[in-house]
Amino acid sequence: MSSYKIINHEYDVVVLGAGGSGLRAAVGLSEAGLKTACISKVFPTRSHTSAAQGGISAALGNMGEDDWRWHMYDTVKGADWLGDQDSIEYLCKEAPKAVIELEKYGVPFSRTDDGKIYQRPFGGMTKNYGNGIVQRTCAAADRTGHAILHTLYGQALKHKTEFFIEYFALDLLMKDGECKGLIAWNLNDGTIHRFRAHSVIIATGGYGKVYYSATSAHTCTGDGNAMVLRAGLPLQDMEFVQFHPTGIYGHGTLITEGARGEGGYLTNSKGERFMERYAPKAKDLASRDVVSRSMSMEINEGRGVGKDGDHVHLNLSHLDKEIIESRLPGITDAARLFADVDITKEPIPVVPTVHYNMGGIPTNYKAEVLTVNGSEKTVPGLMAIGEAACVSVHGANRLGSNSLIDLVVFGRAAAKRVAELVKPGTPHENIGESETQKCLDRFDKLRNANGENSTADLRLSMQKTMQSKCAVFRTEKTLKEGVEEIKKTYDGMNSLSVKDKSMIFNTDLVETLEFDNLIRQAVATVDSAYNRKESRGAHAREDFPKRDDKKFMQHTLSWCDGKNTKITYRPVHNSTLSNDVQYFPPQERVY
Ligand code: FUM
Repeated sequence: MSSYKIINHEYDVVVLGAGGSGLRAAVGLSEAGLKTACISKVFPTRSHTSAAQGGISAALGNMGEDDWRWHMYDTVKGADWLGDQDSIEYLCKEAPKAVIELEKYGVPFSRTDDGKIYQRPFGGMTKNYGNGIVQRTCAAADRTGHAILHTLYGQALKHKTEFFIEYFALDLLMKDGECKGLIAWNLNDGTIHRFRAHSVIIATGGYGKVYYSATSAHTCTGDGNAMVLRAGLPLQDMEFVQFHPTGIYGHGTLITEGARGEGGYLTNSKGERFMERYAPKAKDLASRDVVSRSMSMEINEGRGVGKDGDHVHLNLSHLDKEIIESRLPGITDAARLFADVDITKEPIPVVPTVHYNMGGIPTNYKAEVLTVNGSEKTVPGLMAIGEAACVSVHGANRLGSNSLIDLVVFGRAAAKRVAELVKPGTPHENIGESETQKCLDRFDKLRNANGENSTADLRLSMQKTMQSKCAVFRTEKTLKEGVEEIKKTYDGMNSLSVKDKSMIFNTDLVETLEFDNLIRQAVATVDSAYNRKESRGAHAREDFPKRDDKKFMQHTLSWCDGKNTKITYRPVHNSTLSNDVQYFPPQERVY
């Protein structure tokens, strides 16, 4: 029995994570009169949503005709038919309302001359079911996520959400298959806290840091996903990892797709606009998986730029200076700072860089977590939203600017669902001590680890394996090696060394807990990729170059105890929610 003193809290609902989805949920819950706690390991406005640049999609039609059905078609096609069409319908239909709400909350969107929200073109966003580019991505210059995050934090404070900031969540409290709360460690004073709640909403973001080069912040360690795995529940579609075409070469810093939306284009060492060959219609605004693969092919075939020929150029110097200043100020600074480039004069060196996890915690469109036991079932008391969730609207490949809209539409949906399910002030039943004890035993074991391997070394080994063996292009051989190497790294945890044993702001222990979370997701990712013997969206198998709808138009479910993964599949939802739109059957994906 460990001797940690526990401080108890009781809430109607606990939101774990204070990025765009967590804050949007918290606003809705508090507005509905539910006693709401929002727990975050970083200060809310430092959440990774602040790094989202280019914009948020919604068929507002401010810059020409648009229709949410066209948005739905683009999203289904972008997802390479792995998205659940009921969820995609919900996303695209609710998107305009959710953006207008943000406007009313105070998000400082860029404006058209007649005062409407400015919308820019983005990859894969088309009009009339693939016939021409549409301007659908609502932007606040190239700092849209930052603007949304700050506005939502203000709204959550206004509505009296109670924040627990710099608390690191350790594990869920489960009883008989239901979620009853969670345990967290207060980094500031070293105390341990037990939060009881009738609903826990996981909004902890992605796990980009399993890779060496990613646009993700250091904090993107998928803590909620790992808590779900430790609770004996599956993650979904983990093999689908998005590479953003334009990370700054050598740094990974994001250069928004909005730069191509405003007229930027990619060139190879011969100065060719090579996207014209790969995507004759959409060119540089094809979907991200297509652009990233095309860039990799140019590089692999010897047409990369630089002394090692290992990247390409993004050209913006032809753009009107006034457009650069008003719509792309953030990337102007980033290019100067990280690549020493003046974008009005020179191209930016860019390379495909890990950016987003399409996979995560399986949910339905109401944000309720799903598991499979014979058939699909919801897990009472547990919800997931944002990048942590796999709802699944992005399927095998997410379209740019569909992430921010996913955050607010499903953050809002989660709040609505909890308000239907939970009566404010309902008392909490006794759940005993065994789950708390199990969680603290793991914490204590990691804290007191006295072995040989540093967390930093193990993390580096995991990141290098993922970067080389589970990359843009994959084969049986690379994935098999990846599975073996990652499991060897996992075994390294048997002799882990944590030097700092203290409880207050112990970053050695925080990074170790994060690594324990990351490595489980790395194992689930390579195992899922190894088992999917087809190419679809971001999962490009050189040995299985075609999509195989007969065998694999299914979601991968991976149960992973760290070392061993059990893989099963569940059918994609191909029915829609209403008669407003028909199911879109699979097609060849041409841009
Ligand atoms: O390119 C970007 O601005 C990123 C947007 C997104 O991932 O949705």
